[in-house]
Amino acid sequence: MAAVVSSEAALVLLLVIGFVAPSTASVFFSSLHQTLVVTASPTTGQVLNAGVDQIKVSWSLNESLAAGTDSAYEKIKLVLCYAPVSQTDRRWRKTYDELKKDKTCQFKIASVAYGGGDAVGSYEYMVERDIPTATYFVRAYALDADGTQVAYGQTTDAKKTTNLFEVVGISGRHASLDIAAACFSAFSVAALFFFFYVGKRKQT
Ligand SMILES: *[C@@H]1O[C@H](CO)[C@@H](O)[C@H](O)[C@H]1NC(C)=O
Repeated sequence: MAAVVSSEAALVLLLVIGFVAPSTASVFFSSLHQTLVVTASPTTGQVLNAGVDQIKVSWSLNESLAAGTDSAYEKIKLVLCYAPVSQTDRRWRKTYDELKKDKTCQFKIASVAYGGGDAVGSYEYMVERDIPTATYFVRAYALDADGTQVAYGQTTDAKKTTNLFEVVGISGRHASLDIAAACFSAFSVAALFFFFYVGKRKQT
């Protein structure tokens, strides 16, 4: 009996270690070093259409850093981030220093293998259809083997005011059309029932 209990206890302990330990490790953006040089194809102020236009993102390790800086880098995660101008009065886009809470970079572009200190990586991203109308920049996080952020780079400056571009979302372009279409189809169904009913009444 004691053996059963202790193996159950061991299982619980394993579960606790397996699921709780990684999620309690907090990463703060302010603690990350900016070691990646990141560029993206849109020019300042360029307007891109969601679902249509592409962004080419390129990244490399800053060459003036000491050798071994990138020894823990396994992957590069690219994200699309709201510029401050698109965050004001929107708590759901707020910047938090703790990355788990941070709402700045809600849109994942891609996660790719880190190519090494000499590599210049690049990725072509089609702006997805669900990207809302806003002002953006691109950020890259270097992830270690656990998927934890250990460094970053971004296309804008520290205050996030330079090299920003715009995305015009699908809903901004098509919402009124969709509403009109929905109204027409609701009306036609109502009309169908109306005339069916009138026709029936005439027969009786
Ligand atoms: C590379 O790092 C150096 C030293 O931290 C910094 O002065 C320089 O601006 C960085 N270069 C780029 C292109 O970010």
